Amino acid sequence: MKSIVILFSGEGSNLENIIRSVDPKLVKVSKAITNNPAAPGINRARALGVEVEIIDHTLFPSRESFDAELVKSVRKSNADLVVLAGFMRILTPVFTDAIRNAVNIHPSLLPMFKGADAARRSFESSMKVAGVTVHWVSAELDSGEIIDQRCFYKGNLDFDGFMKRIKEIEHEMYPRVIMDLLTKREI
Ligand code: GRF
Repeated sequence: MKSIVILFSGEGSNLENIIRSVDPKLVKVSKAITNNPAAPGINRARALGVEVEIIDHTLFPSRESFDAELVKSVRKSNADLVVLAGFMRILTPVFTDAIRNAVNIHPSLLPMFKGADAARRSFESSMKVAGVTVHWVSAELDSGEIIDQRCFYKGNLDFDGFMKRIKEIEHEMYPRVIMDLLTKREI
């Protein structure tokens, strides 16, 4: 049996979708960790029986001291894979040097539109296609090796339609990539 830990900061639609979609015979969601005590995702995870740990970043004097606590918590869980799902903190080398088995999902075709507000910037650009990327977490923000990527034509979608398409793709893609990594790549 493999296990994952999920890190999130907000709504938690990917968090909930992953919990619901991974095959429980093969993968256990050991716990979820959030930096945001007000994250709606907290109730979504708990309602599905997943323990949520809150590590409030505002209580730490630096990014590094927050990351050190995060590393401690992740290590305690012994997870095979750490899954970032809307985790809105920039990670320092304290985390990225210690935790090598972490993946992230980003709402653009990386390396285009790294960083915050990526979906909005991708929507507003003159590019005809947009998409979603799953990548390994590395020291540089949204820059680790790409694991999988999907794109779509923007056509004449308005922003709501565009975001709906992004979420649909994320929700199909992320659990599949996680299962593949855990069952086929021997991590
Ligand atoms: C997703 O769009 C993901 O790509 C980005 O943050 C968003 C999180 O949404 N990293 P949710 O909290 O999973 O609904």
